[in-house]
Amino acid sequence: MHAGRRTIVVRSDGRPVNVARPRGQLFVCATGCCCGRTADGFAAVPTELYHHEWERRRLRDVVHLTIGGCLGPCALANVVLLLLDGQALWFHSIDSEALVLALYDHTEAMLEASGCLPAPPALAPYQFSAFAWQAPPAVSAP
Ligand code: FES
Repeated sequence: MHAGRRTIVVRSDGRPVNVARPRGQLFVCATGCCCGRTADGFAAVPTELYHHEWERRRLRDVVHLTIGGCLGPCALANVVLLLLDGQALWFHSIDSEALVLALYDHTEAMLEASGCLPAPPALAPYQFSAFAWQAPPAVSAP
């Protein structure tokens, strides 16, 4: 399934660059119009915890971490998107440190299993689909 963890890409200046190809990428919305904006009544995004757990679990070379701006479905703040092994897994209302830890636990379980798994009970109510090409998961509420 995976053609290799690295690939050579030739830059516009002609220099070939050996580029890492991680298995996934975790996007955490923290600087958009809604997610994390406590002054506007939204829950804080524990960005330090995201980074600390990413380092502690040694995910740096496996799942890239991007903490940044708006991912689109702002009304569902706080939003994260996990791209992993060709799947796009969206989660909303990730408002507590316990949910961040559950998200990382789930990520590690899928890495171990070499493929996507159903979300565990702690996370399943927060998963949704936000792309037209995705089948929506069964509707549930936290
Ligand atoms: S501000 Fe977080 S998804 Fe738009």
